[in-house]
Amino acid sequence: MKIFAYGCRPYDEMSCFEKYSSLFGLDVKCTKQSVSEDNIYLAEGSEYVSVLTNPITDTMLDSFKSIGVKMIGTRTVGYDHIDCKYAKSIGIKISNSSYSPDAVAEFTLMLSLMSLRNMKRIIQRSSINDFTLKGLRGCNLSERKIGVIGTGTIGKRYIELLKGFGCEIYAYDPSPEEIEGVIYLPLKDLFSTCDLFSLHAPLRSGTRHMINSSSLALMPEGSVIINTARGGLIDSNALIDALNEGKIAACALDVIEDEFDLYYYNRKADVINNKPLAILRDMPNVIISPHIAFYTSKSVDDMVRNCIQAFINDEAGGENPFRIV
Ligand code: COI
Repeated sequence: MKIFAYGCRPYDEMSCFEKYSSLFGLDVKCTKQSVSEDNIYLAEGSEYVSVLTNPITDTMLDSFKSIGVKMIGTRTVGYDHIDCKYAKSIGIKISNSSYSPDAVAEFTLMLSLMSLRNMKRIIQRSSINDFTLKGLRGCNLSERKIGVIGTGTIGKRYIELLKGFGCEIYAYDPSPEEIEGVIYLPLKDLFSTCDLFSLHAPLRSGTRHMINSSSLALMPEGSVIINTARGGLIDSNALIDALNEGKIAACALDVIEDEFDLYYYNRKADVINNKPLAILRDMPNVIISPHIAFYTSKSVDDMVRNCIQAFINDEAGGENPFRIV
């Protein structure tokens, strides 16, 4: 079985590809180039292609089809960067990967605490020897009503971690489950009941901009929003207005709309055409991180391994829990 991997980071993923290709006896070729219309030809001769979060357009899917690619596996949990419906219509299979939810859940918990305790302001001030207290008074997590939006593996793990803090936990999910200590609410009620919201929903047409001016209007004054899922879940301009009005007291965004050509590149010499990012980053109560919540050694290893496992399952023709279409 021949696998071609795009966007393979030499400093962490490469050794995982080497380890698993030798463990499973596979022929894996890698490039550090991100997949684009210009480098599809590199995968010629490989039936399986592994990618990261760069958008895969329908034209690219057509090109992969024309060179005989059977399956494209993203080394991520989310697959909103691939038009799966179109892939299915032309007979290309799509798979995703999985990794322990701990990395993102722990990062989300950290951002929740940092937001409630004004950590960005604290770090900014202490770095210039301003050791004053005024304006830095925080809130206890135990006093907050947490609204978890999306109770898949990451949302559930975040809930487990929260339980140690004694806060009230509410959740919304289109397919609610029985989770001890958690009250599911319809989305509108969740928005008006809770005062710290953490997003763990996938990005689909029905979830795009689920945080918008109407949902923000329902939230209590001084609410906090944490997003470690997908930037498109939040209407950035509506969020900026809510932050300006003080309706939202703080937020932490590991993801932002239109991040694809920014994360994970060194763009320090470029003029960045992303106004919401510039405005949000400038606010002392907004923490921005570059879609890095997943990034632990364990996750990187799992992402590569499970992407390869999806291809092995496909070749074997049996059950394939990673297959999307
Ligand atoms: C995912 O796995 O879906 C992520 O969000 C992490 C990825 C961008 C590396």
